[in-house]
Amino acid sequence: MLRINTKTVPVAKAKASAGKAVTIRGWIYRKRSSGGKIFALVRDRTGIIQCVIDRSAIDESAWNAIDSAYLESSVIIQGAVKADERAPDNVEMEAKGIIVVHSGEQFPITEYQSPEFLLDVRHLWLRSQRMINAMKARSYIFRYARDFLDKQGFYEITPPLITTAGGETGADLFEVKYFDQKAYLTESSQLYAEAMIYSLEKVYSFAPSYRAEKSRTVKHLAEYWHLEPEIAYFNNEMNMKFQEKLVSNIANRLAKEHDDILKFFNVEPESLLKVKPPFKRLSYGQAIELLQGKGSDKKWGDDFGVEEEKLLTENEDKPIFVYNWPKEIKAFYMPVNPKDTRTVLCADMLAPHGHGEIIGGSEREWRYDALVERMKALNMNLDNYNWYIDLRKYGSVPHAGFGMGVERIIKWMLNLDHIRDAIPFPRVINRLTP
Ligand code: 4AD
Ligand code: MG
Repeated sequence: MLRINTKTVPVAKAKASAGKAVTIRGWIYRKRSSGGKIFALVRDRTGIIQCVIDRSAIDESAWNAIDSAYLESSVIIQGAVKADERAPDNVEMEAKGIIVVHSGEQFPITEYQSPEFLLDVRHLWLRSQRMINAMKARSYIFRYARDFLDKQGFYEITPPLITTAGGETGADLFEVKYFDQKAYLTESSQLYAEAMIYSLEKVYSFAPSYRAEKSRTVKHLAEYWHLEPEIAYFNNEMNMKFQEKLVSNIANRLAKEHDDILKFFNVEPESLLKVKPPFKRLSYGQAIELLQGKGSDKKWGDDFGVEEEKLLTENEDKPIFVYNWPKEIKAFYMPVNPKDTRTVLCADMLAPHGHGEIIGGSEREWRYDALVERMKALNMNLDNYNWYIDLRKYGSVPHAGFGMGVERIIKWMLNLDHIRDAIPFPRVINRLTP
């Protein structure tokens, strides 16, 4: 007899079991009835199978339950799998027993819904094939990044998310009430990662970063997941080489191991297999010239926005680096380039086809005097950074690191229009729920 604890097989396995009797459990994805039969598509995390329920083949209470069940009801179905070329994927299951575990209420999402409504019911929209595929890709990308760094001998570290000061832009911090003090949600874990290279040498933190940026663009989240490696005795060149390997490894593995997901998003797996080192490198100066050649009015010293990133990468198949930016538009910890003191030793990686900046990295100023001088020149409150400056007093070493925005990587690799579909519960300027 079918029970709630009857042993089940994944739907994908059931589909490969023609001629056998199996039990599956899942959710009703589609349902229609015709001529005393119900055709239910049942999904679980591995796939979707058509179940044919003949009124005469099951008992009356089970028939009534499945007949009145809403879409997205949870069900357990026992039956015989058989090949049938009329069925999706040429296989279907003839039900012999059914338990409707929970039917509940009518599912609010129907076929055509506005993007805003789908965001309102995001907790339910996560069951869509689009979100299922995106969330699987996200999980794989997290896994590949960790695998890669673990194999290279890194230690994963866990930084605090509540901090007293920022490191990047300053203006974009979320303030939090911390007992009687003012504190901020971290915008980057870099400064803490730097503190840990003196004991662990090669570290990475994989944590959320918070940006109170008021930009309403397709690539900004207020809360995003930030992978931040930091490495002792590393320079800008080594940093770029390492980033190329990391990003290529993620792209190649996704294409090799999950081309089904890429195809779902109409991405050619081949396009990600082609992502291999080396990536094109443009100095900031070269990038400005290239932009001007394409009709842009940007001049030396300007920062780049969506438009410039697009112009630079529209014809690229792989990410590119833009390195050694003007110091005025980069963070305080980046060391001045001795060969051109207008610039700092850093590099941004831009994704192809205008998906924008996916990595920001640099060498770090490791000399006490140079760091303090630079911070004073920027009118920074040194008291907020005592511990960070202190690191330059005891056995300081040259080092470098970078930050990769994981949702930006996902947006690029799945060719998503908007970054919000790269994260289950997006936090953007006008949305805090669900
Ligand atoms: O360029 P950013 O601001 O650099 C840093 O925070 C450094 N402290 C990182 C480091 O060296 N450890 O941010 C790094 C990356 C960007 O390249 C982008 O991929 C991502 O973080 N990012 C965002 N992703 C989504 N939404 C936002 N609002 C983002 N802001 C930055
Ligand atoms: Mg940046």
